[in-house]
Amino acid sequence: MSYPFQIKSIEQYHAAYKKSVADPEGFWGEVAGSFYWRKRWDKVLDWNFKDPDIKWFSGGKLNITENCLDRHLGTLGNKPAIIWESNDPDEHHRVLTYRDLYQKVVQFANVLKNNGVKKGDRVCIYMGMVPELAIAVLATARIGAVHSVIFGGFSAQSIADRLQDAQSEFIVTCDGAYRGNKDIPLKSVIDDALVQCRFVKKVVVLTRTRIPVSMIKGRDLWWEDEIKKVETMGNPDCPAEEMNAEDPLFILYTSGSTGKPKGVVHTCGGYMVYTTYSFVNVFQYNPGDIHFCTADIGWITGHSYIVYGPLCAGATSVLFEGVPTWPDAGRFWDIVDKYKVNVLYTAPTAIRSLMSYGLGPVHSHDLSSLKVLGSVGEPINEEAWHWYDENIGKGKCPIVDTWWQTETGGILISNLAGVTPSKASYATWPLPGIQPVLVDESGNELEGNGVSGNLCIKFPWPSIIRTTYNDHERCRTNYFATYPGMYFTGDGCLRDESGYYRITGRVDDVLNVSGHRIGTAEVENAINMHAGVIESAVVGYPHDIKGQGIYVYVIYGNTHGDENLTRQDIAQTVSRIIGPIARPDKIQFVSGLPKTRSGKIMRRILRKIAEGEIDNIGDTSALLDPSVVEEIKKGRL
Ligand code: WT7
Repeated sequence: MSYPFQIKSIEQYHAAYKKSVADPEGFWGEVAGSFYWRKRWDKVLDWNFKDPDIKWFSGGKLNITENCLDRHLGTLGNKPAIIWESNDPDEHHRVLTYRDLYQKVVQFANVLKNNGVKKGDRVCIYMGMVPELAIAVLATARIGAVHSVIFGGFSAQSIADRLQDAQSEFIVTCDGAYRGNKDIPLKSVIDDALVQCRFVKKVVVLTRTRIPVSMIKGRDLWWEDEIKKVETMGNPDCPAEEMNAEDPLFILYTSGSTGKPKGVVHTCGGYMVYTTYSFVNVFQYNPGDIHFCTADIGWITGHSYIVYGPLCAGATSVLFEGVPTWPDAGRFWDIVDKYKVNVLYTAPTAIRSLMSYGLGPVHSHDLSSLKVLGSVGEPINEEAWHWYDENIGKGKCPIVDTWWQTETGGILISNLAGVTPSKASYATWPLPGIQPVLVDESGNELEGNGVSGNLCIKFPWPSIIRTTYNDHERCRTNYFATYPGMYFTGDGCLRDESGYYRITGRVDDVLNVSGHRIGTAEVENAINMHAGVIESAVVGYPHDIKGQGIYVYVIYGNTHGDENLTRQDIAQTVSRIIGPIARPDKIQFVSGLPKTRSGKIMRRILRKIAEGEIDNIGDTSALLDPSVVEEIKKGRL
């Protein structure tokens, strides 16, 4: 397989960029031409950002799994599609060739069909990082159903919210999941969620950890039994459902600055084209390379750069069940060495955590297969960038700092490995087709170099968010209304004197904890549900490993008893309501919160205190009761 759209020199990058702006339809039409369409599109792009209403490749018909699987069988049938590394380094790894993966996807697609799943139905997938997770995702797409993958670190309540929002009647899960020394009881969490979701018809359960699970007659089914059933039925085929380019492919929930998580919707055609295009160009993937993205498929990074992008490109993708520090901090390097990984794509939080173990675990492994390193999820600090460059890349592997979001579907700003220049802690330049603009608070475009502002994108790209599930108005107000005519990212950004982009972090009330997006309002809602809590305010503060930590100020009514126990109780409530990923790091009890006369909490002040900038609080004259600030400063944790 070769990629006619692969950019191989800086001149080609500039030419592609120029063309993508001058003639976007011509540009993307050409890229899309190298995919397999059942029927070619009539129109490359129709759009307005006002509603928003964005259509790529209208009239085109396809199934993304034919592009991920069927199309490769002739040439790559015996090549590994997925290499699976168990959490347990002593358990044998699994290799699924393109033919194996195809057969397993087809089988499971038939299982879904047999259980009544139809085109357009939402299938919720809550599994650990086993090959069957990728199989379930692809099987859902094959029959034209819509997957909604939920990360294993979310609680029963979060699952119930997502099941209800998407009205998912079908669930695929595991008995349990291994992660490091933990054994997570996934099915039991699902059971707790289902107490509130009586509309769920079927739960398919894959055996992984074999912890005891309850199986309800008529509703709960073992994956293995269902596979046997379709095997005895004889027909090993499952023709891919013909989808319109703009039919939904999946929903993925993500946090915003207000309310409950929203279901970001991506559609079949544009998502396929953009994830593959960006995969090949950013990582400079060449046929035969081994690609290792360490994300979980529960996040967009896993969707786009473990499953869809790599498989559409006919790549070999490593799927790792475990965590970077178990059984020791050499686990990633062990995997790189074992499978001769060429491209390693991970998160700054993982790099920082591994840095803290020193170089011992690095030096005991051969990393010479590495050609390209990637970073994603949060700004990478210079120290981590240089450590990654010197000790992992040995100074010879370009690092791609890839900026993007759940809503963007694929990487929008990044250097192209070895093709365009890199710069420590800069995402650098936009990919072809991406037109970034920086705006000031009132929405005026800041032109020229050496400016900072809010990052917007002024023209659609093929994998842009289409809607938020069941609530199009929320999509409009969240992303397209702040600065009319533009998609607003929620990030602050600097364009330096040479025109390189550096993402400076969120400008809204969204935290980025270990690369996970968490809304402060969501955490406050959970804390306020705890008995005894009168009011709370949540802010982020710099955390050495996680990037940001969660700092909570609580007004607590009933102060008898042990403060530390109460802190743990509050943290437990957050774990229950959202999931362990949102567990607060610090909880400070206060008697009041800094509020304006109109009752608005002045978060700026709370943020400064949490960050330790107590002497630099700024103006407090607008506060109803400035004395509360002194008390909060004194009690800082
Ligand atoms: C937010 C999106 C994109 C997949 C993982 C996270 C931050 C992401 C970078 C980067 C600086 C980054 C932004 C963005 N972010 N990548 N390379 N440099 N910041 O997806 O959960 O949708 O979060 O992550 O703040 O808005 P997500």
